Amino acid sequence: MSNAAGCGGAGFWQQRADVVVVGTGVAGLAAALSAHRRGARVAVLGKAGDTATFYAQGGIAVVVPRTDDSVEAHVADTLAAGGGLCDPAAVTSIVADGYAAVADLVSDGARFDDDGRGRWALTREGGHSRRRIVHAGGDATGAEVQRALDRASAMLDVRRNHVAQQVVHRDGAVTGVLVHNGDGPGVIHAPSVILATGGLGHLYPATTNPDGSTGDGVALALWAGVAVSDLEFVQFHPTMLFDGSASGRRPLITEALRGEGAVLVDSRGARVTDGVHPMGDLAPRDVVAAAIDTRLRATGDPCVYLDARGVTDVATRFPTVTAACLAMGIDPSRQPIPVVPGAHYSCGGVVTDVTGATEMAGLYAAGEVARTGMHGANRLASNSLLEGLVVGGRAGRSAAAHAAESGAVRAQPDLDERRISLPRRDLQEAMGRHASVVRDSDGLHALTEALHAASPAPTRGRAAFEDAALTATALAVAAAASERTESRGCHHRSDHPEADPARALSSTVRLRGGRVTVDQPEGVC
Ligand code: SIN
Repeated sequence: MSNAAGCGGAGFWQQRADVVVVGTGVAGLAAALSAHRRGARVAVLGKAGDTATFYAQGGIAVVVPRTDDSVEAHVADTLAAGGGLCDPAAVTSIVADGYAAVADLVSDGARFDDDGRGRWALTREGGHSRRRIVHAGGDATGAEVQRALDRASAMLDVRRNHVAQQVVHRDGAVTGVLVHNGDGPGVIHAPSVILATGGLGHLYPATTNPDGSTGDGVALALWAGVAVSDLEFVQFHPTMLFDGSASGRRPLITEALRGEGAVLVDSRGARVTDGVHPMGDLAPRDVVAAAIDTRLRATGDPCVYLDARGVTDVATRFPTVTAACLAMGIDPSRQPIPVVPGAHYSCGGVVTDVTGATEMAGLYAAGEVARTGMHGANRLASNSLLEGLVVGGRAGRSAAAHAAESGAVRAQPDLDERRISLPRRDLQEAMGRHASVVRDSDGLHALTEALHAASPAPTRGRAAFEDAALTATALAVAAAASERTESRGCHHRSDHPEADPARALSSTVRLRGGRVTVDQPEGVC
């Protein structure tokens, strides 16, 4: 049964809802459930295919009461990983609500691995000073989170094969969403819209992200005139399974393997992170990815290796990783796993507060698409499912309250919208060459030139929309990366290898008159 009301129309379909949620991963479904539980009529839109949540392996970072852990310790680790750009108040607020959010998920049916004594089994990942990662199915945490949320949302109006193409607004407030589905274009009139579209990994030729991670939410916000920030901080996961030149979504090799004793070595067996950081292979992710990149440049090898032969019961504890390796003819209990850094997570995104509210009335963002100030210049491992759950829930509550206050609205979308769009392979090639783990001024300039060669095209249909979204997002990443003339967190500049203390501030990117502009915070010249 549909919760959103149909209202007929001329030339395109029309419906009404109180809250439209764009995205069906952890943040989207947490938002949809909390809005629904506050009495809102909710419509949830998703593209076909799996979410990034489904593929998450390691787990959820959460402070479990009555352990050696504390909110203060988790906050300190998050701030240390974030390279000076986290918002401490946002981090504290999100971390402090983590346990309650995970407990709610358990009430919704999620089951996490236990330690045999009736408590959650806790593992460790890079940058964490404590064992605080809860997991499910060994290394299939995301699949369990998705299963539980899908089940809890079964009574909601969740539509697959729906591509949200435009946030419609008037006088600074949301009025709905232009959508494309199998029936063609349509509009959902709604005073509240929550972007929970996930990430942007398909800016690059190879990524750990599912096919749908094409920067949609960042592009929708930019096109609506809403600010994005910290987009230069694209996190490369140190260990993506290496399979020659294979492109598209590639399997992740979870960091939790290193938490359980696996080590990174090069082709001669030398340790990759020796002398790099006091936490060695469990240093924050940006440090380990950069160490691998440096080693690959020095040796000329195509990959390094994760040696998990010392991990107890690797096949039982890490069944997802084991299956991916076996499919490539590698047995992790007997052979080192070939790995390279892979585009994994956008630390930046649409600027929001910790309730998911953006600067536009009625527009919210939660999960990877949002920039709350939680991750700064480099996200701490397993803080993403945590943030998606906590901020997703809050965004749903805020959006429901906003809809109740606003009453009915009427959206008038631009049905003839054209957006600049570069062919996807050209864009991925240019991003992979010039905006990968290490960047420099010449490369970023070449990237920007290539992106400006894009020509306007209609955005109807998923592929055309995604190419336009990737192009807009790439322009924002390139602009932010060009402006940041220092190295910090995930953003490494070979021409500016040191951090500049004067630049420990986030800049803001907007689309103005078809051009991307970067606003520096006060104090940066
Ligand atoms: C992993 O399992 O290594 C990835 C977890 C994350 O991205 O937080």
